[in-house]
Amino acid sequence: MKKTKIKISAEIEALIPELIGAFRRFLKLSGPDHELQTREFRTTCENVQKIEKAFEAASFDEEFYSREIIAAYLLYHFPIHFGQGLSLIGELPCTPKKVLEVASGLAPFSLAALKLGAQEVFAIDQNEVMLKLGAELIGRAGYPITMRKWSHGKDLFPISESFDLIILPYCLNELFPETLKNSEEKKLSFIQECLARLTPTGFLLLVDRTDQRSNTQVLKIREHFVAKGIAIQAPCLGKSFCPALDSKSPCFAQREYEKPYFIKEIQRGAGIFLNSLKMSYLILRSPQAGWPQIQDGSSLFRVVSPPIESYVGKRYYLCGVNGKGKLDLSLAEKTYDLQRGSLIALEGKSKYKMVAAPGKPLPETGEGTNV
Ligand SMILES: C[S@@+](CC[C@H](N)C(=O)[O-])C[C@H]1O[C@@H](n2cnc3c(N)ncnc32)[C@H](O)[C@@H]1O
Repeated sequence: MKKTKIKISAEIEALIPELIGAFRRFLKLSGPDHELQTREFRTTCENVQKIEKAFEAASFDEEFYSREIIAAYLLYHFPIHFGQGLSLIGELPCTPKKVLEVASGLAPFSLAALKLGAQEVFAIDQNEVMLKLGAELIGRAGYPITMRKWSHGKDLFPISESFDLIILPYCLNELFPETLKNSEEKKLSFIQECLARLTPTGFLLLVDRTDQRSNTQVLKIREHFVAKGIAIQAPCLGKSFCPALDSKSPCFAQREYEKPYFIKEIQRGAGIFLNSLKMSYLILRSPQAGWPQIQDGSSLFRVVSPPIESYVGKRYYLCGVNGKGKLDLSLAEKTYDLQRGSLIALEGKSKYKMVAAPGKPLPETGEGTNV
């Protein structure tokens, strides 16, 4: 299926009045649709801070999601996660038709999949209030979505079909807290179960925060599944041991976007310093698929750092089929706006050709083979 072109900032901007409207209906408040009143703004920022702290400490329970917390999540985390979804799902080689978001909350990644052309989208979560609010918002945006209440550890998986894309966004710390007995094994076996629910050409997208604990968790999941013969679609190009894990340095995605004023204001009020969309992510291929076939694989690299500046130019750290690399661009170089996440072909030590911009699919030459 042909892919839909999307501009992330414009999509988030267009969503804001809908979010404010939903916020007002949810909290039974009245006021203008395009902006928050001072008191609403203040409490939203305080609750966004509480959510951020809970994320950092990875400490949640069912009671955490009060109506005020859900309302703040709707105004800040929903649009941010929606924007991340647009970028990450955009990295797939084709539009997934049938999609499942697990522990979806308000289902921001489901909305992103629908915007990008998915036809049948399911979202499951233990919190019925969040599911209902997400369904209302997505329904008003004109998209059909099926929501099911599901509590991991208590309920059987509520859908028996196979999916072209299963998304596990920002939920592993809540489904598998460190306090849970054998939490590591349970988490990996749950991801394995999700892989088994993919169509033969399907993908599993895992998204999490960029703090060291969340990032390391994603990198370790990558190591585990690569060792089990599961192929990766993105961001990694090869099977070699993860250099970031080896050097205990982070590896995450960073997507530049023009920040809507509303998001800027909440970030200012909540003391969040983030100029771009940042997330740890991993796209695994179905166990029945092989590694993507790429041309000139050994010269291809993913840019995995921001530019490190010096008086002679900029250095970028890279990761390729066979592990680490680097690129030094002198001040004289004209092509100078390389971003973290870009896919490039190295042509010598300080020359490169752009192969795919961040958030764009890997150019594949054909079907992968089973490993
Ligand atoms: C941080 S939110 C992420 C929501 C959404 N995926 C997003 O990216 O915005 C985590 C979600 O996990 C859900 N959750 C936590 N424990 C769960 C469980 N045992 N079963 C099902 N859902 C659970 C919560 O209700 C919450 O909606």
